[in-house]
Amino acid sequence: MAMVCLTDFEEYAKEHLSKATWDYYAAGADECCTRDDNLLAYKRIRLRPRILRDVSVSDTRTTVQGTEISFPVGIAPTAFHCLAWHEGEMATARGTEAVNTCYITSTYSTCSVEEIVAAAPNGYRWFQLYVYRDRKLSESIVHRVEALGYKALVLTVDVPYTGKRRNDIRNQFKLPPHLKVKNFDGVIQVMEAASSEEYGIPSNTLDPSISWKDVYWLQSLTRLPIIIKGILTKEDAELAVEHGVQGIIVSNHGGRQLDGGPATIDALSEIVDTVQGRIEVYLDGGIRTGSDVLKAVALGAKCVFIGRPAVWGLAYKGEEGVREVLQILNDEFRLSMALSGCRNVAEINRNLIQFSKL
Ligand code: FNR
Repeated sequence: MAMVCLTDFEEYAKEHLSKATWDYYAAGADECCTRDDNLLAYKRIRLRPRILRDVSVSDTRTTVQGTEISFPVGIAPTAFHCLAWHEGEMATARGTEAVNTCYITSTYSTCSVEEIVAAAPNGYRWFQLYVYRDRKLSESIVHRVEALGYKALVLTVDVPYTGKRRNDIRNQFKLPPHLKVKNFDGVIQVMEAASSEEYGIPSNTLDPSISWKDVYWLQSLTRLPIIIKGILTKEDAELAVEHGVQGIIVSNHGGRQLDGGPATIDALSEIVDTVQGRIEVYLDGGIRTGSDVLKAVALGAKCVFIGRPAVWGLAYKGEEGVREVLQILNDEFRLSMALSGCRNVAEINRNLIQFSKL
């Protein structure tokens, strides 16, 4: 089967993964309104292409946190890659390294951060962090990833509690016994003692009392840039800037947390307007085509990240599948840029968006 677009990988994954694994990756919270709107919102946006601008040469490169990447798309943190492919996150890391973009490693990886770095030693990586009740656990992971050469910490703030994902409950989904959250291996004793679990992880490890003061706490532990993932309003964007973080990822966790929140592309503009270039603003959720990337960049995202499509790529062919997914998005993005008269990423701006239709 020729893999032409990202939905081809989605179909392949749906066909080849077990039902419980597919449901886990696909899940949104409750009625999945926000999950689905993440995609639909792009379809409501129309572009204003410019013509006769000599697009014979085009350059998709950009930078994030001062580092050059091949195009403004990276890999969002998603859990449990070994469910999709036996080499799990090691394959994701290699596939992303091959395309020269950014891979945000999830805390809930089924390979350890040491294995991931060894698998793709030259890859550009950020590490996604949760704040645990046991602050020592967060602290030890921060020091580990800093020593391993991770370039930023992505603090996910939209999971004080896990969203209600109906199919996971129906399937009683949890990590199979042969897989582990390897980053916790030997670090978290509470695992064995836990009385209740979510997804095979003790359900009480995350700290729902986390607040803005924990950002200061994290800053005291590390010199790495801190990027807050899960902001959807201008008020919180302003607070993020005031608290001295280096970036924001506009995200609703792929619609897996609060159902009824906005599509991320709809939340982006108010955040970009508030931040006014003081820090970089990124976005994830619903990116499936190169023109989605173009729209997000036009509305002010410095870079976007893909969650599920990377997992579909993994399920298809491991490292090679991740590389193909990224390559297809890169090709589509380059084509959309050219067809709308943009020769490089710096030329993409709000004039490309037909606001009268929004
Ligand atoms: C996620 N996401 C996520 N986010 C995070 O900060 N830490 C994590 O461990 C996970 N795990 C995770 C697992 C799965 C299966 C999915 C689908 C998502 C959220 C992820 O980073 C991102 O916000 C969304 O996936 C983006 O939406 P798309 O690209 O999947 O539409």
